[in-house]
Amino acid sequence: MKHFLHESDITSLGTWLAKGRELSLDPGACRNLGKGKTLCLLFFNNSLRTRLSTQKAARLLGLEVMVMNFGGEGWVLEFEDGTRMDGAAAEHIREAAAVVGQYADLVGVRAFAGLTDPEADAAERVLDGFRKYSGLPVLNLESATAHPLQALADALTLEQHRVAQRPKVVLSWAPHPRALPQAVPNSFVRMMARMPVELVITHPEGYELDPAQVGPYQPVYQQEEALEGADFVYVKNWSSFREYGKVACQDPSWMMTAEKLGSAAFMHCLPVRRNVVVEDAVLDGPRSLVMDQAANRTVAAQLALMHLLESL
Ligand code: CP
Repeated sequence: MKHFLHESDITSLGTWLAKGRELSLDPGACRNLGKGKTLCLLFFNNSLRTRLSTQKAARLLGLEVMVMNFGGEGWVLEFEDGTRMDGAAAEHIREAAAVVGQYADLVGVRAFAGLTDPEADAAERVLDGFRKYSGLPVLNLESATAHPLQALADALTLEQHRVAQRPKVVLSWAPHPRALPQAVPNSFVRMMARMPVELVITHPEGYELDPAQVGPYQPVYQQEEALEGADFVYVKNWSSFREYGKVACQDPSWMMTAEKLGSAAFMHCLPVRRNVVVEDAVLDGPRSLVMDQAANRTVAAQLALMHLLESL
């Protein structure tokens, strides 16, 4: 059975990007592919882009769509086997996932990192529970450690705007008042490793990404040095992995400004906090690609759903 859990589920990135270019020109080209099939989208966390773009993509493929805010409206789930369920959990993942399997042909799941226990987050118990017990192809709508739909949309956007053969892409950490997961930077770094780009990663000391996720890398701790000669600047906050889930730095000097950006293109997955992560002038200026990234989320979701439909 095919799943779309991780960037590694894209076996031929070049083929996917080429198909993405075709879909951008003719979004309804595969309108009958999902006819008679149902996609169920389960959200354990909030969403704007993922929720709407995946529904749009599904409809462009002829799929029926059901959406549920599981985090707010579903039963509290138990994930451990062999437990006596006399606490908060009202339903076991074994039944919950299998029940979804009775109503749908494909299932998408969003379940963020808890950011308290790195081993539990790495185990991806919600996503993996649906993979094991739903009997359905599973679509990752952002999990504890990965956001492959976002990374695919980012790759499509870079390809559309790339001028240099091997552009310099800078991933820059930015301040944020809340502890955010590492899923987006993990997936972005892994995706860039598969593209013809020079990737430079800059963040304060203590914000190193998990090498088990992104492989070994040498960060540049001086943002100004990292930004020199950049063609694309991808800005994102993430919480510390070393001090797991902590906001260890809120230094406002890491905010992206038009002056720092220079002639580079600006990328961010959104949602973004204005004048904390990035100043207004960048988001409202001509170098921002954030709406291209958002538009490409639909294309990315179409590509991933087409991959899953091949299983049926
Ligand atoms: N970028 C992204 O995944 O946006 P949402 O959290 O709004 O879905």
